[in-house]
Amino acid sequence: MYRKLSEFELKSGQRVEAGVVIAPDADWSERLKDFLSWQDDIWNWQNSIFLESQTGIEVYYYVAHADGQVVSTIMSAECNGIGLRGHIWTPPELRRNGACAPLHGLQLKDFHSRGGKFFAAYTDFNSAAWHMYTRAGLRPSEPFGGHVSFENPDAELPSPHAETVIEALNWQNWATSAPLFMGRQAPLVRCAPLGLVGRRTSEYELLLELRNQLEGGAERVRVMRNLASQEVVGLAAWGWHPGLRDVCLLDVYCFPDYWDQAGALLDALELPSAHRYIAYSEHNCPEKSRCLEARGFSSSGSWRRYPVDLCRPPTWHLPASGSRSMLARLAWRIGHPVDHAVAWFWRHATHALNVDARVPARWPRFPHTRALFADLELYER
Ligand SMILES: CC(C)(COP(=O)(O)OP(=O)(O)OC[C@H]1O[C@@H](n2cnc3c(N)ncnc32)[C@H](O)[C@@H]1OP(=O)(O)O)[C@@H](O)C(=O)NCCC(=O)NCCS
Repeated sequence: MYRKLSEFELKSGQRVEAGVVIAPDADWSERLKDFLSWQDDIWNWQNSIFLESQTGIEVYYYVAHADGQVVSTIMSAECNGIGLRGHIWTPPELRRNGACAPLHGLQLKDFHSRGGKFFAAYTDFNSAAWHMYTRAGLRPSEPFGGHVSFENPDAELPSPHAETVIEALNWQNWATSAPLFMGRQAPLVRCAPLGLVGRRTSEYELLLELRNQLEGGAERVRVMRNLASQEVVGLAAWGWHPGLRDVCLLDVYCFPDYWDQAGALLDALELPSAHRYIAYSEHNCPEKSRCLEARGFSSSGSWRRYPVDLCRPPTWHLPASGSRSMLARLAWRIGHPVDHAVAWFWRHATHALNVDARVPARWPRFPHTRALFADLELYER
């Protein structure tokens, strides 16, 4: 269904119409898919799903268009006033002509009129979109970060404590997971198997996971949902360790009020059989450590002030390199680390987390790079 919102003039003087397409919509499907088809496969898959089928969440494509041609778009996927922004796009030849900013203003107004509470978006720090967002009042979760969010000052987030349900990942909890992952509460390592470290949106990682699951892959995520607000209040996941064979990495993360249910959330994960299971906890989150210990995990090493670099793409898939890594692998295999600190560092953290030990050396070259430090503890079973 299409609803006209307004008309406005571009800087060039051309008049455009702004409206919202409430997906799915057969009339607009091909046009929007085509307009946004420059993106990676996963985002094209998402557009096809949203524009062609019911997902149980509200999906709005805000469009500025003239003479049948789309000029700019913004997508908003929401559930009970909590959601994610994406597909913000003006083709390069039409940029800086005042197409997207008015559309963004209309989208914010529409969001308010629906009683919207929270939404999050990701863009590169200091990009055109970042400037547009921050001018419109969105706030980065970290001073130099590209993960931004808008929080309605009248909304209480996280929502008041309520009864919960534990379930598989679905579109609803994909849309309502952002307040949990953008939140300021400890710990910083929030979902090591999915590479979610630091205050950031979970949009991309959970979308990949959801597609894997919808296409018949293993269910690796369990979600705890607040039944009153529909918000995700906890998440547990497992994944194969990217650097160590037959080692399963798992994690659990909750809002502070829900750590007492973290054990049930972990227990709901169907873990594969593995040679070893590992998890990271942090010194400022004793609830997580206790939850792991109650499930047979014991601490086997710790790392103080570990640099967690948020301004860099994940090192998740990069193979380990260098002789120190070989040494660490050997130490792991024989179960007796030669140099515990070095071995622990190389064999686990550089592989499994979105981190880079050389961050301080890069500061002068990338002044906006900022490291966060976590006091990590490794648990094994
Ligand atoms: C972000 C984007 C949609 C803006 O579209 P646009 O139609 O050019 O936007 P507007 O002309 O309405 O400009 C909006 C505001 O964005 C900011 N902006 C746009 N281009 C900018 C640039 N090159 N540098 C700094 N700020 C810029 C400005 O605040 C601008 O307002 P102003 O022109 O009054 O100063 C467009 O640049 C784009 O498609 N970028 C690539 C996709 C992307 O990054 N999407 C977001 C992440 S998913």
